Amino acid sequence: MSARRSVPKHIKLPDYSDLGRPISEIKNDRIGKITQYSAKDIEKIRKVAKISREVLDIAASHIKPGITTDEIDAILHKECIKRNAYPSPLNYYNFPKSLCTSVNEVICHGIPDKTKLKDGDIVNLDVTVYYLGFHSDLNETYYVGDKAKCDPDTVRLVETTREALDLAIKAVKPGLVFRDLGNIIEEFASKNSCSVVRTYCGHGIGELFHCQPNIPHYAKNKAIGIAKPGMVFTIEPMLCLGTYKDVTWPDNWTAVTQDGKYSAQFEQMLLVTEDGCEVLTARNENSPGGPVPRI
Ligand code: MF3
Ligand code: CO
Ligand code: CO
Repeated sequence: MSARRSVPKHIKLPDYSDLGRPISEIKNDRIGKITQYSAKDIEKIRKVAKISREVLDIAASHIKPGITTDEIDAILHKECIKRNAYPSPLNYYNFPKSLCTSVNEVICHGIPDKTKLKDGDIVNLDVTVYYLGFHSDLNETYYVGDKAKCDPDTVRLVETTREALDLAIKAVKPGLVFRDLGNIIEEFASKNSCSVVRTYCGHGIGELFHCQPNIPHYAKNKAIGIAKPGMVFTIEPMLCLGTYKDVTWPDNWTAVTQDGKYSAQFEQMLLVTEDGCEVLTARNENSPGGPVPRI
């Protein structure tokens, strides 16, 4: 790992940036109400969402065999600072870097280091930024080099995960029972012979990085809550080629599959509207591969 990156004084910091404990989040956990944001807050949330998409796309455009995950972290960090945004992972429960980089069998929360990406790898970049008092969270999995794009199992995994998220998003509107999202995702994953990770879930987000609702991605879950206009949350399914079971490295962050087979993830942040939802972190014309990526 490289040394800790610094954040200039003028950037607004979340409450954990110094000591690593998200105090407001820990306090809020005991309340468990789902916030419906005001029009004024939603304007701010749209701005931070736009920044998070921009910096993810820039970081992703540098992915190629030979680059290290630490170099991608440095790029992401710099692009956040340029936009007066704080990279939310930095010191969140003492996470040491600005970005999560999850390679191959890493399910999520991989820590950027001097590991070089190689042809045939897949890598997930999970970006969260804090700006105007709000967090925005999204991630995508990318193929490294051409070898990964030619491996049928790798493509099945990555494209099934991408489509599972899109399918779930289509179901989001007022009245949606949050526990139903897992049924949609797991049914589609199973049809394509992929398993669904159970340990990590989507989540409410806004003034806090993680809050209610909890959004499991597996079938027959017991999640609480119903979607209402103004709610903001993520869906971020993690699918695997083999077992869904995870184990955490001794670094206390890196979550990997127990069998070492590949895992992929996609994440979007959504706003529930009067008649559906707005994908706040959606791709656009400037995204690498365009608004609708195709392999
Ligand atoms: N971005 C992750 C999520 O989707 C959380 C990362 S926590 C960190 O919820 F500390 F690892 F950054
Ligand atoms: Co998230
Ligand atoms: Co995320």
